Amino acid sequence: MAKLIGNKKVRTAVFISGRGSNLKNLIKFSKTKKSPIEINLVISDKEAAGLKYALHNKIKKKIIYFKNKKDAENKILDKLKKENIEFICLAGFLKILSKAFIKNFKKKIINIHPSYLPKYKGLNTSLRAIENKERFSGCTVHYVSSKLDSGKIILQKKIQIAKNETEKSLDKKVIKQEHKIYPAAILKIFN
Ligand code: GRF
Repeated sequence: MAKLIGNKKVRTAVFISGRGSNLKNLIKFSKTKKSPIEINLVISDKEAAGLKYALHNKIKKKIIYFKNKKDAENKILDKLKKENIEFICLAGFLKILSKAFIKNFKKKIINIHPSYLPKYKGLNTSLRAIENKERFSGCTVHYVSSKLDSGKIILQKKIQIAKNETEKSLDKKVIKQEHKIYPAAILKIFN
């Protein structure tokens, strides 16, 4: 990834599908002096609750429905181009982007996942880890490839699973660490 030139921050889009706590956290981080990114656009594939953070922070937002994946991706690409977006953070975005889409942003799309990858790709990671009597779970920031949760790992954090852990309590521990490692991974990429 190219280094920052002068004080200009990298124009970034965040893609979401849900509540947007990582979006909220990234917006907060992006406003700090040390942040190499600024957030200029939020993309969602539905009326996601997290879109409110775009509204509160006067960030442009666009909902693109995925009735037809190719059409949807082309619409997103047009919007990204229009807004001169250089970098993409996926934050709870539930659609898998195609190879053709990713090619346009090689090594410039990253994702956060609530497990210690390569373990527990996909959904319901905390529940599956508890059911399998794992001793730890975690969270991972990685580059996006067209295979689900499989790109090169940038940063990850292990999280211990307690004896009486529930899905809810583990999810809570994981999201807390996500909010630490996502900005840290971005700093690692650009520094
Ligand atoms: C997070 O657990 C993230 O790792 C996963 O989806 C969840 C999104 O949460 N990809 P939020 O919408 O950022 O609160």
